[in-house]
Amino acid sequence: MSSPAVAYARQNQPRFLNELKDLLRIPSVSTLPEHKGDCRRTAETLAAELKRIGMENARLIETAGNPLVYADWLHDAGKPGVPADRSSSAGRKPTVLFYGHYDVQPTDPLDEWLSPPFEPTERNGNLYARGAADDKGQVWAQVKALESLLKTTGSLPLNVRVILEGEEEVGGEGIAAFVASKPPELKADFALVSDTELFAPGLPTLCVGLRGMIYTEIEVRGAKTDLHSGMYGGAAPNPFMALAHVLARLKDEEGRILIPGFYDDIIPPSPEELAAWRSLPFDEEHYRIAEVGSRSLVGEAGYSVLERTWARPTLDVHGIPGGFTGAGAKTVIPAKALAKVSMRLVPGMTPAKSFALYKSYVEKIAPAEVSVEVRLIHSGDPCLIPVDNPYIQAATRALKEVWGKDTVFIRSGGSIPIVGDFDRHLGMPSVMMGFSLPDDNIHAPNEKFHIKNFELGIESIVRFLEAAGK
Ligand code: BES
Ligand code: MN
Ligand code: MN
Repeated sequence: MSSPAVAYARQNQPRFLNELKDLLRIPSVSTLPEHKGDCRRTAETLAAELKRIGMENARLIETAGNPLVYADWLHDAGKPGVPADRSSSAGRKPTVLFYGHYDVQPTDPLDEWLSPPFEPTERNGNLYARGAADDKGQVWAQVKALESLLKTTGSLPLNVRVILEGEEEVGGEGIAAFVASKPPELKADFALVSDTELFAPGLPTLCVGLRGMIYTEIEVRGAKTDLHSGMYGGAAPNPFMALAHVLARLKDEEGRILIPGFYDDIIPPSPEELAAWRSLPFDEEHYRIAEVGSRSLVGEAGYSVLERTWARPTLDVHGIPGGFTGAGAKTVIPAKALAKVSMRLVPGMTPAKSFALYKSYVEKIAPAEVSVEVRLIHSGDPCLIPVDNPYIQAATRALKEVWGKDTVFIRSGGSIPIVGDFDRHLGMPSVMMGFSLPDDNIHAPNEKFHIKNFELGIESIVRFLEAAGK
């Protein structure tokens, strides 16, 4: 079936891509305080564009951190300019809440980028820049899908609200508080979350499960100050050795997490879901060589790689800052040591209980000569989306039209904390329809977005709204 909006999107593709490049030039790195202003500028750019394309009530919503971007269009399709009659639900179209994030990860290690991270560059059909796939390219696909519909039909096939956040990469506290307050701005029937990936190139994919997480720090203190390692070595405690002792006891050689009770509440995937995963096009050797690039893979025996990354919890160390790390040698016993440790959680597990179990275990195994403090930096719940709702079905119909293939349902090992909150606080299911690829290098040097996926992503969102509004 032809769609004027899809035709418009195709005609305007070069402009859409140039605009995306402008958006990617703003370094909206949420974790670095020096980029606060860039985050706000990105939010303002998005709000202005939403207004320009004909969305209404476009504005920033302040949080304790970076602002949210909000806009809506609530006309009950086909009656432009006439607000919906709130007193009756007869004949009303559903309302979709668009979600994405405009903040990006830091760029280090900078010297591994082939082109500068904030100078978007095209190579081999890809657009390289920090945030290209995660998540500005996908946010821009949402905005351009709305533009294509509004500019060709003067209307939208259903009611639309948009909420974009600027702190997803740092835990999303601002939007979490906003969602928990159940504001009228977020009243919707379902969410369209554009922040996930295709399982494989050209394979339309809906993500129906995400892992949750707890992100923590372990701080170990030994002596009251740094000490000369010759004068005191042998008698004074070394906090890095104590920290290594703790970290080494968090997991066994087989990859099993040793925190007592940690696995107790896990709800395993159903036999049907496991069978569906087995039929996905996945080659473990190719994954090891092309994506991971290590000598071998790790993980719990008896679980496939997809189960390990989608349905089992993790425990990873991200960095051990502190002590002497400069060039050359310095003979010092540092007074303190720190480790950044996170755990990914799967359905059944909760951040509160997981953190409590972990904290008391770390305190128990810490050597007696040091003091240890275990801190929670941020957390998010895991989520599972039931697939038997009309929005998921509309999405698969739309994806079939654009990609010519049946949709695969996958989970993702990553986390988008707000998706669980949409369900818990607003009772709202999410359609996680994303167009990144497994090798897009998100969070890594040389992040890219496949330009064809940007185009087909816009078409998919247009078709999805048309299908969901029928
Ligand atoms: N878009 C990702 C999550 C993701 C990655 C979903 C791959 C599906 C496939 C998101 O921006 C992200 O990186 N989230 C963080 C969240 C954390 C900081 C709470 C993550 O997963 O580390
Ligand atoms: Mn993301
Ligand atoms: Mn991310």
